[in-house]
Amino acid sequence: MKPPILIDIPECLTAPRTLVRPYRAGDGVGMFEAVDESREHILPWMPWGPGHQTAEDSEKLVRTFRARWELREDLPVGIFERESGRYLGGSGLHRIDWEVRSFEIGYWIRKSGAGKGHVTETVQLLSKLAFEALDANRVFIRCAAANEKSAAVARRAGFFYEGRLRNGIKDARGVLHDTLMFSLIPEDWERAAPRGLRLEL
Ligand SMILES: CC(C)(COP(=O)(O)OP(=O)(O)OC[C@H]1O[C@@H](n2cnc3c(N)ncnc32)[C@H](O)[C@@H]1OP(=O)(O)O)[C@@H](O)C(=O)NCCC(=O)NCCS
Repeated sequence: MKPPILIDIPECLTAPRTLVRPYRAGDGVGMFEAVDESREHILPWMPWGPGHQTAEDSEKLVRTFRARWELREDLPVGIFERESGRYLGGSGLHRIDWEVRSFEIGYWIRKSGAGKGHVTETVQLLSKLAFEALDANRVFIRCAAANEKSAAVARRAGFFYEGRLRNGIKDARGVLHDTLMFSLIPEDWERAAPRGLRLEL
C-alpha cells in the first residue's frame, strides 16, 4: 500500500453553492464567529463548542487540523459559501482506515447557514473525494437517533440505512442515545453519483 502521506488529495471541492477545502492559517477568525453564533445549536451534539473561548483558540485548532490533513491522519475541511467565501461550518473524512479504505463523514453548520442544503452538498463532495480520489470501499455517517436533522442529511445524500446501534452515543449532557448508521459503498456511488461536483488539486 502506498504510504498515505504520498497520496495527492484534491484540495478544492466545489458544488453549485458550496466550496469545501482543508483549513489554512487565518481561518480561525471565521470559525470562531461561526461557533460563537451557534453555541446552543451545535452544543447538544458537538461537545467541543465551549473549547472555543477566543478566536485564538479557533486559530490553534485550524492549524492543528491542517497539520493532521498533511499527515493524512484525518482530513478535516471547512465549509464555505461558494459565492461569498463566508465560513459556514466544519466537516471532513474522519476515523480513516487506510487499509480497509473506510472513512466517516462528520459535519456541523453555523446557525445562519443552516437549512439551505450546504451540508448535503458537502457530504456529496466528500463522498466524491472518497470514492473517486481515495479509492474508498466504505463511507459512513453515524448520528444519534434523536438528531433528526443529521439523519436527514444522510438520507438526502442517498446513504443506505444500515441499522440502529443501541446506546451507541452520549450527548454533551451525558445522556445516552441509540446511534443510526448509514453508508455508501462503491456500487452505490457508481449507480447514483450526483452531478455538478468538481474536485481540483
Ligand atoms: C445536522 C446539521 C449539520 C444539518 O444541517 P442542515 O442545514 O439541516 O442540512 P443541509 O445543509 O443539508 O440543509 C437541509 C435543509 O435545507 C433545505 N434546502 C434548501 N435548499 C436546499 C438544496 N438546494 N438542497 C438540499 N436542501 C435544501 C432542505 O429542505 C432542508 O430543510 P429542512 O431541514 O427544513 O427539511 C445541523 O443541524 C447542525 O449543524 N447540527 C448541530 C451539529 C450536529 O448535530 N452535527 C451532526 C452530528 S452527527
